[in-house]
Amino acid sequence: MLHILGIDTSCDESAAGVVTDGQVVRSNVIASQVAVHRPYGGVVPEVASRAHLISLPGVVAQALEEAGLGFGDLGAVAVTQGPGLVGPLLVGVAAAKAFAYASGIPLIAVHHLLGHLYTCWLARPELPLPAICLLASGGHTVLLYWEDHVRVRIVGRTLDEAAGEAFDKVARFLGLGYPGGPALEKLAAAGDPQAFSFPRAWLGPDSLDFSFSGLKTAVVNYCREVWAKGGQLPLADVAASFQAAVVEVLVEKAVRAMKSFNVQSLALAGGVAANGYLRQALEERARREGWNFTVPPRELCTDNGAMVAAAGYFLYRQGRVADQYLEAVPGLSLEAFLGN
Ligand code: KG4
Ligand code: ZN
Repeated sequence: MLHILGIDTSCDESAAGVVTDGQVVRSNVIASQVAVHRPYGGVVPEVASRAHLISLPGVVAQALEEAGLGFGDLGAVAVTQGPGLVGPLLVGVAAAKAFAYASGIPLIAVHHLLGHLYTCWLARPELPLPAICLLASGGHTVLLYWEDHVRVRIVGRTLDEAAGEAFDKVARFLGLGYPGGPALEKLAAAGDPQAFSFPRAWLGPDSLDFSFSGLKTAVVNYCREVWAKGGQLPLADVAASFQAAVVEVLVEKAVRAMKSFNVQSLALAGGVAANGYLRQALEERARREGWNFTVPPRELCTDNGAMVAAAGYFLYRQGRVADQYLEAVPGLSLEAFLGN
């Protein structure tokens, strides 16, 4: 049995988890920084770095304690190398190097998107591959062709903003504060998704790419126009109609990818996968098409340490071990990381 400690400090959560053999989650501890950043209406990178410095040691200690393990029981330490915010990443990478060195165990560098991808494996070990994974987070919206372990290719990506970013910005505009995605979903639940027909960017009949900034601007402009004329807007309807537009595009593009790669497994991951409307829409569509569908439980969708440990296990099995010269890379691309 190989126990791996996984650490993620790519953005605003100090996260550590222990996973055995890439599929059994022993612990998954997250120190959220929401309260720290809320007064600013978004994540402040340097504030995040300092908060990671303070909370990460305790988070790691708790992850080990909950797993019932000590450093001596670990087979390796895995850490998010990038992409993410440079200061926060540096804290995680430095800590992981120290833990690995002091314990005399291997250090594994993990790409953040691979971490999100492997939450699907945690949710469903032995998920039949190849699969298509729709991965939507705050920083990325991609379609991944998941051929085999750690053989992954981006086949569609956003040309501008990520879906989560659009959720956050529209939420902020509507006065819902930070973090925006969950707040917008809550408001949308009381609204009519067909009240307004906001634009969907299809980018041509075969495109697997996304674009959300036009939709965001359309929502903002529409609201401003109504308000300028002294009109009232049912904000729940605006939220529901915006959410419906994002979800329709995400679902249709995932379906396009499934058909063009002719695979039978569809997976959903990333922070936006915590959205109930998206989860239900994609699941229903997969059922109708006769595909098997995997989505992790909500707590695994947003950033966490267990996902890094799980991806780290499969990287380790491929012999990908890092050394003490490992550097945080804020703009790390999946292609550069995997060498393809
Ligand atoms: O994966 P994640 O935790 O961090 C990144 O890697 O970016 O994703 C965070 C993103 C944020 O944009 C957040 O607003 C969005 O996921 N999100 C949601 C929901 N929960 C989180 N978006 C829509 N509905 C939700 N329930
Ligand atoms: Zn993430």
